[in-house]
Amino acid sequence: MCRWFDSAPGHQINTVETDVSTVFLFLHCITGNAAPSGTRQSQSCPGVHVSVTQEKFSMTTARLLKKVCLITGAAQGIGLATALKFAAEGATVIVCDIKQAGVDEAVAQCRALGASAAGFLVDVTQRATVDAVVAKIREQFGRIDVLVNNAGITQDARLQKMTLEQFDRVIDVNLRGVFHCSQAVAEVMVAQGGGVILNASSVVGLYGNFGQTNYAATKFGVIGFTKTWSRELGPKGIRVNAVAPGFIMTPMVSAMPEKVLQGLQAKVPLGRLGMPQEIANVYAFLASDEASYINGAVIEVSGGMSL
Ligand SMILES: NC(=O)c1ccc[n+]([C@@H]2O[C@H](COP(=O)([O-])OP(=O)(O)OC[C@H]3O[C@@H](n4cnc5c(N)ncnc54)[C@H](O)[C@@H]3O)[C@@H](O)[C@H]2O)c1
Repeated sequence: MCRWFDSAPGHQINTVETDVSTVFLFLHCITGNAAPSGTRQSQSCPGVHVSVTQEKFSMTTARLLKKVCLITGAAQGIGLATALKFAAEGATVIVCDIKQAGVDEAVAQCRALGASAAGFLVDVTQRATVDAVVAKIREQFGRIDVLVNNAGITQDARLQKMTLEQFDRVIDVNLRGVFHCSQAVAEVMVAQGGGVILNASSVVGLYGNFGQTNYAATKFGVIGFTKTWSRELGPKGIRVNAVAPGFIMTPMVSAMPEKVLQGLQAKVPLGRLGMPQEIANVYAFLASDEASYINGAVIEVSGGMSL
């Protein structure tokens, strides 16, 4: 059975225009995950476009109004949640991913929320493609205000068993891909006099993790990028920050064995894993002018699992 919840714990609902509960419902339907404690369940799950009218999002308080926001890896999971959250905040959303069907669906969902949206098939490891797409976005939309470097993969194995292919592939996507996109987009942002770059790190990039030599290296590396670029680009009006999620229920994590998931959950003082929209909420804040003095920060969003 699909479930939905009215709002993330502590989330303030504002006045009406775009139906944000539909976003939550959609995310629950695609992930098939349980709602956080203290939330309501529906009788059934009639589909992703079901309108839940009692809770709405005010476009008049939209924090990303008119901002052109490029999100990589936005076909599913945290990237999709971020695309939908940004759409609900009034952004023009540019969805990039290697999955065409997911790109099309994400764009359709953003438009259903009333946002302007476009999608591009982009493999972040391919520099020529990244450059061509960034040029196209600049031509079509005139600017890029926010880049969310969200695309990422895992290929886990203990140090002694990890193959060079596993090592290289994860470095390619999670580190080189972030470098490609940031270098291409930074040029646009410098020319326009400002912007925001947000990088997906992880608690694994803060504390390491068993079986994740390659992944941990990339997520530590992304923090290095963040701190370096915040120094280099800050004087040009560009803020660079990272988010370090704990374990969030997305296809990447739900593929883990049930026993491992239960073990992870037991380490979280809040008693549950995170939901994609709880990371999207932080990206939206960091992307907005409300975070105008936050630069070079790494924000852990893990339910306190590292305490
Ligand atoms: N889920 C978690 O618990 C968690 C925790 C910490 C950090 N993160 C990070 O957050 C980001 C998103 O994670 P998620 O759980 O939503 O992952 P996910 O696997 O659900 O989604 C990742 C998306 O990236 C896309 N992608 C993969 N390779 C790509 C490439 N070469 N070019 C463009 N797109 C590509 C995939 O197609 C997919 O749509 C990742 O960087 C991940 O490392 C996730």
